[in-house]
Amino acid sequence: MTTVLEISDIKKNFGGIKAVDGVSFDVQEGEILGLIGPNGCGKSTLFNCILGQLQPSAGEVKVDGKVVTGFRPSDLNRLGVSRTFQLLQVFPKLSVRENLILAGQEHQGNMLSRLLGPSDAGLSKAADQMIEFFKLGHLAGELAGGLSYGQQKLLDAAMAFMGGPRLVLLDEPAGGVNLTMLGDLKARLAEINREKRATFVVIEHNMEFVMSLCSRVVVMAEGKVLAIGTPAEIRANSAVIDAYLGH
Ligand SMILES: Nc1ncnc2c1ncn2[C@@H]1O[C@H](COP(=O)(O)OP(=O)(O)O)[C@@H](O)[C@H]1O
Ligand SMILES: [Mg+2]
Repeated sequence: MTTVLEISDIKKNFGGIKAVDGVSFDVQEGEILGLIGPNGCGKSTLFNCILGQLQPSAGEVKVDGKVVTGFRPSDLNRLGVSRTFQLLQVFPKLSVRENLILAGQEHQGNMLSRLLGPSDAGLSKAADQMIEFFKLGHLAGELAGGLSYGQQKLLDAAMAFMGGPRLVLLDEPAGGVNLTMLGDLKARLAEINREKRATFVVIEHNMEFVMSLCSRVVVMAEGKVLAIGTPAEIRANSAVIDAYLGH
């Protein structure tokens, strides 16, 4: 097995708040790892520490065996690491296609092509592939701001895949999305995982989504890891049931 992501004893304090308090786990190549836990337990902060939006107070992040702690997001993009945010990051005044191309440019860190405008660099083709893959063809020319919330979440996820990433961290990709779109998103993620051997870490509250999509699940509570296991192990874990699955 090849370890794609390894985090060791990550801590992040905000003043007196220990938002992330010594989290360690690894993610194997081709795996879909779920990250669950109650609101405020530190999941998004952990993603921010991994992807360079925040400097961890302590701990180490490795991608493909290389220490990348404190690297900038653009440096991580170039290493094939990508993410989505809990809140939508689409540009409402750009079309679906333009959003994808812009995301591709960001992943390439291609400032020059951004300044010079849409000189392509293979991004049109990649955008067309994403549009087809995420079944957004009928919406390709529409302004992102005019799409339904669920369609925007799907576009947001598609944007994270524009650089052909090896590792993608998804922060509540299905949050606020209706059941049909949820099924679509799950099918797209499962297929891209299978076909491209892309590795994912997914934060999500929808248990059915997590348990059916993920090979392993990490449960966090109050900044710490409460349990790690297969969906079946997590469902049967009494500490998890008490703290989170509860009712
Ligand atoms: N930038 C910040 N400044 C101060 N406190 C923060 C900041 N971001 C998150 N927190 C706090 O850290 C804790 C964990 O938040 P977060 O990582 O967003 O949790 P989750 O994503 O699991 O819901 C919460 O108590 C939250 O209020
Ligand atoms: Mg969050």
